Amino acid sequence: MITSPSYYDQIGGAPVVRDVVERFYERVLGDDDLKPYFTGIDMPRLKRHMVMLLCSVLGGPEPYEGRDLGEAHAGMGITSQHYDKVGEHLFAVLEAAGVGEDILRDVGLVLGKVKSSIVAEPAETAD
Ligand code: HEM
Repeated sequence: MITSPSYYDQIGGAPVVRDVVERFYERVLGDDDLKPYFTGIDMPRLKRHMVMLLCSVLGGPEPYEGRDLGEAHAGMGITSQHYDKVGEHLFAVLEAAGVGEDILRDVGLVLGKVKSSIVAEPAETAD
């Protein structure tokens, strides 16, 4: 039986995902709006969890062993606007890594699904 390669295989597996995550946090920490959220955070651990999460979302063999995303971001007061910025940084690095349209679209769908468990306010709030 011939099965089509997973997104994980298409983009080059764990080494490419690790590289994407490295560049992603370089951009996030270089963004003055987002940097404060990461003060005092164990970055090597966070990067490991993000690699596992991305690998499993893309169909790789690594199971995600980090916390539930709602639990991990509870109490941080993440705004909808900051969430979207983080998403934009992720898209930028995935695009730069040559990831195809279909994968970008699916990652976009996942970002849409998990948003409500990560942001601390309703998206519509305007003040
Ligand atoms: C875009 C969707 C996001 C995903 C998929 C994501 C994913 C993750 C993952 C997998 C972890 C590790 C959980 C663990 O350690 O068990 C984590 C932790 C963290 N995330 Fe996110 N995240 C997202 C958005 C954000 C945003 C928007 C911010 C802040 C602006 C943020 C800030 C943090 C911080 C500070 C931690 C460390 C928590 C700690 O170690 O106590 N994340 N995130």
